[in-house]
Amino acid sequence: MPSVIVVGSGIAGLVAALRAAPGHEVTLITKAELAESNTRYAQGGIAVALFDDDSVQSHIDDTLRVGGGLNARRAVEVLCSEGPERVRDLIRLGVAFDRTGERLARGREAAHSSARVIHAGGDATGAVIELALVEAVRASGTRIREHCFVDDLVLDDGRVVGVRAIGPGGVAETLYADAVILASGGAGQLYSHTTNPLVTTGDGVAAALRAGAVLRDLEFYQFHPTALALPGNFLVSEAVRGEGAVLRDADGRRFLLDEHPDAELAPRDVVARGIARQMARQGGRAVLLDATALGSEFLGERFPGITRECLRNGLDWGREPIPVTPAAHYWMGGIRTDEWGRSSLPGLFAVGEAACTGVHGANRLASNSLLESLVFAWRAVDALATPFPIATVDDAMPIDHLPRRAAAPRIVDRDALQTLMWEDAGLFRSDDTLEEAETVLAGLVDDSAAESIGAREDRNLLDLARALVTAARARRESRGAHHRSDAPETSAAFARHLDVAERVVVAC
Ligand code: SIN
Repeated sequence: MPSVIVVGSGIAGLVAALRAAPGHEVTLITKAELAESNTRYAQGGIAVALFDDDSVQSHIDDTLRVGGGLNARRAVEVLCSEGPERVRDLIRLGVAFDRTGERLARGREAAHSSARVIHAGGDATGAVIELALVEAVRASGTRIREHCFVDDLVLDDGRVVGVRAIGPGGVAETLYADAVILASGGAGQLYSHTTNPLVTTGDGVAAALRAGAVLRDLEFYQFHPTALALPGNFLVSEAVRGEGAVLRDADGRRFLLDEHPDAELAPRDVVARGIARQMARQGGRAVLLDATALGSEFLGERFPGITRECLRNGLDWGREPIPVTPAAHYWMGGIRTDEWGRSSLPGLFAVGEAACTGVHGANRLASNSLLESLVFAWRAVDALATPFPIATVDDAMPIDHLPRRAAAPRIVDRDALQTLMWEDAGLFRSDDTLEEAETVLAGLVDDSAAESIGAREDRNLLDLARALVTAARARRESRGAHHRSDAPETSAAFARHLDVAERVVVAC
């Protein structure tokens, strides 16, 4: 039987393992407990064209409209047309999406032209899906390795043939398989403000970079507009604004009406930047999310998790507006793949947030990411029998080099790195701030003597910070989530992707 190693246990990794299990020897490796992942914290839900007043074409159009002209059209068509069947799979598996009577309940989120976001447990969609999939994977015959950290990919003659891993107790081992599927998530921990859990250090993407895989669209990092402006930056779902909550400045004014006709329901990048500008105008103080018109009873039922978190922090959001701030949320960029999850390295697949299928372009439509994981993890398993690499671009133009390591380097300090990225490569960047970030990053090294998982994560964050900053510097325009204060317009000259590979950035 062919063998496959799946790295990561969010929705993408679990779906890949479950689908592969009947015909493969599957080993699923995850660095914490099986149920811990970014998926578990997803609130809003899954965007899917399942309703009579909606259509696949309308979902495609909305996804393309917010994507800044960089979506891979074919991948978007696959996402929106195969999504409904993949969601039905989840329902068959026993995922109890919320219902109004017999019908699926649905919410509206920013930039969707109809209410098409289904949810579970009110605002616990990710947790409900994660737990159902965990149970199914445990029963599937998959070999599960928890608390096991994938440090690097193993190559043989240019082909990925396995992973080097550090198991519980720090024991290093090499595992081999016919194919490796990276479903290891994004890297929210690059930033000092993030909605992502501590595990999101981009380990799979960094390992792929070191192995020579092509990464794409790294400059496009999505900042969620509304995280609680308190330590931990707990996510306050976009669905709250979809239900009618509004954003106010320190004087109680709805400032987003000046930014975009759709105000609070404008595309996510517009809302996040509008909030950041308003915070700057009011001396850095958080803006206020006012959900009081929805009433305590409705908020408690529809958003039980957010209500609990507010109360834990002494906030009664049924009675008073709550302080919110943007925070890093989702990386549109990642390991470049085709719509079958195939990367540029033979034997290596990537799915979920670790991958860049191009489905989100420069700016992801809210609640498209769980759907992306479902659809493309499923397809990657179909492609395991043909693990050849995606075609490389022959006319690729080298435009820059990744920074070299300095002669007298300092060891990376994670807090300082996160602050640097937030300030210099966050919601607003410019050539000056990015050059400063590049210089600082070039003077850092990972602690090669340290063997802790934390030190290995720091190495990954450092490698990815360098790659992200290099791509952001090379894109001398503003588009989607990438906003350059020194080049605020979108430029036709940059209506293309930037690919990053070890040592060189290429445009295609
Ligand atoms: C949210 O609930 O606002 C997050 C949904 C998403 O990021 O897609």
